[in-house]
Amino acid sequence: MEKKVAIVTGGSKGIGAAIVKQLVTDGFAVAIGERDLASANQYAQQFPAGTVKAYAADVSDRAAVFALVKQTVADFGRLDVMVNNAGISMEKSLLEMSEEEMDRLYAVNEKGVLWGIQAAAQQFIAQQTPGKIINASSIGGYKVQPGHAGYSATKFAVRSLTQAAAREFGRYGITTNCYCPGFTMTPMMEQIVANYCKQLKITKEELFKQRGGEVALGRPAQPEDIANVVSFLASEKANYVNGQAIVIDGGMVYK
Ligand SMILES: NC(=O)c1ccc[n+]([C@@H]2O[C@H](COP(=O)([O-])OP(=O)(O)OC[C@H]3O[C@@H](n4cnc5c(N)ncnc54)[C@H](O)[C@@H]3O)[C@@H](O)[C@H]2O)c1
Repeated sequence: MEKKVAIVTGGSKGIGAAIVKQLVTDGFAVAIGERDLASANQYAQQFPAGTVKAYAADVSDRAAVFALVKQTVADFGRLDVMVNNAGISMEKSLLEMSEEEMDRLYAVNEKGVLWGIQAAAQQFIAQQTPGKIINASSIGGYKVQPGHAGYSATKFAVRSLTQAAAREFGRYGITTNCYCPGFTMTPMMEQIVANYCKQLKITKEELFKQRGGEVALGRPAQPEDIANVVSFLASEKANYVNGQAIVIDGGMVYK
């Protein structure tokens, strides 16, 4: 049987990279859509030839996201799963947030997901196949984390876009869900941790000791913990799961 095809945006590092690896294990061919093409190309080379391909795409650019879907279909023949994973962080209090910073945050985290939903849904409807759309929200999409006011606003928006897409596209058999990671060790989180340590003048070990109690399991997530849930959402086992925002945080946010 022809391989199923997935796109993962921001798939060369962190959670996205783990999702790419897991989907390859699950039997998918994967297209990585990245603003950092050099990293994506380097990462793609680690997989068997023809399995993973890298494409330049900044998700804040609507035309680039539509071109990513078009090129993936031209190269792999179809699209089955769209993972709108790319996102950026911003640690600012409400009074510090500038218009320029908020515009960029919304352009990547919210509009980037919207363009991915639109481009994928259009392709699934044209193919007449029941595709799956999977978006990156966050525990910040349920509960504002200290110093992450703007970031949380974009992640609340991802949950709302997910519900809207689930409603609008359900009649085509398309499902839309999102994953809400907690404290996950990726390049993004390493940067956040380094900033906290600098602000609080403590070491990483001291910070983990102080904050470790916030996670019931007592450890941060690894990217693979998140990829395992995305693997389920991308599989036929999740055919009746639609419009959900699944928290994967080891027990931090209880809703
Ligand atoms: N790490 C966490 O603790 C955590 C928690 C909750 C939610 N998330 C969300 O999970 C997703 C992945 O996070 P991560 O920690 O792996 O991030 P990361 O910064 O470690 O990796 C993100 C990847 O996305 C790419 N990227 C960034 N902006 C892009 C753009 N405009 N277009 C295309 N690619 C772009 C980067 O080049 C990078 O490869 C994000 O949406 C993030 O908000 C992460």
